[in-house]
Amino acid sequence: MVHQIYAGKAKEMWTTEDEDVLRVVYLDQATALNGKKKDHINDKGKTNNAISTLIFKYFEANGIETHFIKKISDAEELVKKVKIISLEMITRNYSAGHFASRYGVEEGKKFTTPVEEMCLKSDELDDPAINASQAIALGIVTQAQLDTMWAISRKVDQLLTPLFEKADMQLIDFKLEFGTLPNGKIILADEFSPDNCRLWDTKTHHHLDKDVYRKDLGELTPVYQEVLQRLEKVILL
Ligand code: C5P
Repeated sequence: MVHQIYAGKAKEMWTTEDEDVLRVVYLDQATALNGKKKDHINDKGKTNNAISTLIFKYFEANGIETHFIKKISDAEELVKKVKIISLEMITRNYSAGHFASRYGVEEGKKFTTPVEEMCLKSDELDDPAINASQAIALGIVTQAQLDTMWAISRKVDQLLTPLFEKADMQLIDFKLEFGTLPNGKIILADEFSPDNCRLWDTKTHHHLDKDVYRKDLGELTPVYQEVLQRLEKVILL
């Protein structure tokens, strides 16, 4: 029987007739502050699905393996079933968000080498920061798996930074999640959308991402639609 296996803050996951395939539903919902702020946002689901589909297809076209199979409707896609690794892998090209607040620096400082951070995926614990030795001690990953995940993260950064630049956006930071296939291979999972990255307009430095919602800067969907339109002009598959 087809059933729901996960109800998250922005997505649901369902099994399908094929045991190796899951159906993802992108919700018209935004949350911040680990779910303490939560709102219905019209058309957010289909916009994020469109953006993530475009970027995951671009990854595949450039040799980065992902869980993405295909988009099946406005707000739904099919993905390969993977075992999700409970780590959020964050790459920062510029200071912003928690980096700026935690270390008392202004936003928008460019790093000569990207900053790499990890958090444990845990709603109950509020996604605490975790380092490599802690993640290995907890049995979440091996050093070799971490090396693979960071190698893929760097490739994503190197691929997307010039792509967003072409679309007049700076890729400030982003978060990736990974999963393992039954044969143990690590592939990119989750999504890539303005929900899990920061994008600034190159000229105005306006936020084109979920900070618009986090900081109450205006309506979210028109901003995400703007990101989608800009990407459609530069991703020609
Ligand atoms: O909040 P912070 O500055 O640590 O976020 C860094 C990047 O990771 C941002 O692009 C943010 O959207 C993303 N992120 C995420 N999910 C989280 C925490 C951060 O997508 N739970």
